[in-house]
Amino acid sequence: MKKTIEEHAAHFSEMAADYDDSQNSEEYRACASLVVEHAAPGPDDVVLDLGAGTGAIALALAPRAKRVVGRDISEGMLERAREKAAAAGIENVEFGYGTFREPEYGGSESTRSAGPDVVVSNFAMHHLSDDEKREAIEVIAGLGPRKFVLGDVMFFGEPNPDEPFYSPEVDDPATVGTLVDALTDAGFALTAVERVHDQVGVLVAERAPIAGTAADAEAVGGDPEGDDDSPARE
Ligand SMILES: C[S@@+](CC[C@H](N)C(=O)[O-])C[C@H]1O[C@@H](n2cnc3c(N)ncnc32)[C@H](O)[C@@H]1O
Repeated sequence: MKKTIEEHAAHFSEMAADYDDSQNSEEYRACASLVVEHAAPGPDDVVLDLGAGTGAIALALAPRAKRVVGRDISEGMLERAREKAAAAGIENVEFGYGTFREPEYGGSESTRSAGPDVVVSNFAMHHLSDDEKREAIEVIAGLGPRKFVLGDVMFFGEPNPDEPFYSPEVDDPATVGTLVDALTDAGFALTAVERVHDQVGVLVAERAPIAGTAADAEAVGGDPEGDDDSPARE
């Protein structure tokens, strides 16, 4: 990470009021749409949005999901997201502090019992170094989602600092290969790779639910509450 979490948080809080208007590039819009399209939550799904910012993705997914949990490090961005949710009358979304490597997913009553079904992140993970991204992906896999949709600045070809999405002094994007390696090492299988631009893309990673989670119990026909008659699994 080329800036500390506190520096990134302060930077984004400063720009929170103008953030939505500044995100007008065709590539950002295409990336956000693809993340929403691939996330495709069902009415029983809980979605975790990491680096949620002012809620572009979380608020777009909320009407289709059971609940959306947005996590970010910038109180200014989170406050803007809460205002937008209230203005739109969206009640099944919650925004709070959390980082990629410590998402604080279970920090609220509504999310304590089980992991998210779908994790999404748009235009945020490139602030982490490659080692930190790998760590974050392991943490995300450990939450047991069936799907992780990552839209971000990423290199399909050679890094080119003259291209619009890459500021070497603050950004730390990975190559697509590095991200795919980290995702597959964490147990995901890549089911879609969308190239929006040579330096912007969306990766869709899916996995079987991990043993011991509520989602796993449901997937094998058991009762996540443990009060049915099916034999206990080890
Ligand atoms: C470019 S904005 C993207 C916001 C939103 N996902 C969107 O698509 O508009 C990047 C966001 O990532 C957040 N962020 C940066 N580093 C982070 C970290 N380590 N953990 C969680 N969020 C982080 C910033 O605070 C900021 O809100």
